[in-house]
Amino acid sequence: MIRSVVLGSGAAKPRTVVTNHDLEKKVDTSDEWIIQRTGIKQRYIAEPDETTADLGEAAAREALSDAGLTVDDIDMIILATSTPNNTFPATAVDIQERLGMSHGAAFDMQAVCSGFVFAVTTADTYIKAGQAKRILVIGAETFSRILDWEDRTTCVLFGDGAGAIVLGAEEGVGMSNDRGILTSHLRSNGSHKEKLYVDGGPSTTQTVGHLRMQGREVFKHAVAMITDVIEDAFAATGLTADDIDWFIPHQANRRIIDASAKKLKISPEKVVMTVEQHGNTSAASIPLAISVAKEDGRLKKGDLVLLEAMGGGFTWGAVLVRW
Ligand code: UT7
Repeated sequence: MIRSVVLGSGAAKPRTVVTNHDLEKKVDTSDEWIIQRTGIKQRYIAEPDETTADLGEAAAREALSDAGLTVDDIDMIILATSTPNNTFPATAVDIQERLGMSHGAAFDMQAVCSGFVFAVTTADTYIKAGQAKRILVIGAETFSRILDWEDRTTCVLFGDGAGAIVLGAEEGVGMSNDRGILTSHLRSNGSHKEKLYVDGGPSTTQTVGHLRMQGREVFKHAVAMITDVIEDAFAATGLTADDIDWFIPHQANRRIIDASAKKLKISPEKVVMTVEQHGNTSAASIPLAISVAKEDGRLKKGDLVLLEAMGGGFTWGAVLVRW
């Protein structure tokens, strides 16, 4: 059977680091509160001349180079983002143009913090259906642009950045020791909209709007939803938490990640945690964490990796992939 194998990865961060102490000067908060409640110590914030397309393009170039490929080898670009450069055209098309690619198709995918998991799953489906051989999957965000910088309950939580992977079709035997994506599971439930949303948009306010979140309410649902969809991934493959080499979750909050890992009985040394250095970068958080684990030598070919995310919508999902 056809498997979607990870051929390369890359990441890009804005130039400017903003620490918790920097934020203490802007809003009524403290380094201590932010670290204790979230684990975040700093985040990267885009300067006015750094856009989602800039960050996504840089991450894409690094992923292509890591894979030893050029855009000529790519059939499709899927960009997960909730902070596109423009309402339309899709920022993926902008990146396609910047990369010098005029064949194939590029489109954006919007599932907020779960965007990367949704985009990877979509890419896998195209590859398995034989409609594409190699797909560039990017998660890129500039959430700083939609934050209310006077709202301390949200502005301290998020950051900007991008990450990308190249997925390519390879033959597998259909067993769980195949390389590539072994299973993926997506969920959404619109009844939770008010808990995490942006209060503007083209068809309602004709403005971009600001992120609004009932943090405690999101927190309450997060662990149950995450662990539930991961249990589905385990059941579909016959794999268990013991088989996992690396758990690379969406990086929203250290307490959510710790509680999810504990409930799933995934030992702490297998958890890739980057929330401390990046904050919550929405659809970019998983590919950014992938690049950290790859650069420091943890993530190696053949490793079994569990990806997971949960975010606005609510949307949530899990992917099991052998690197
Ligand atoms: O990626 C998408 C998914 N998003 C998430 O997963 C986020 C999920 N939620 C969370 O991570 C947590 O709920 C937060 C980090 C957002 C908040 O942590 P919490 O432990 O749930 O705190 P809380 O909202 O219950 O607030 C506790 C107190 C409140 O004061 P009172 O009412 O107890 O007097 C807040 O006003 O902390 C106060 N507070 C702050 N204090 C200092 C809220 N924000 C801040 C702040 N600095 N930045």
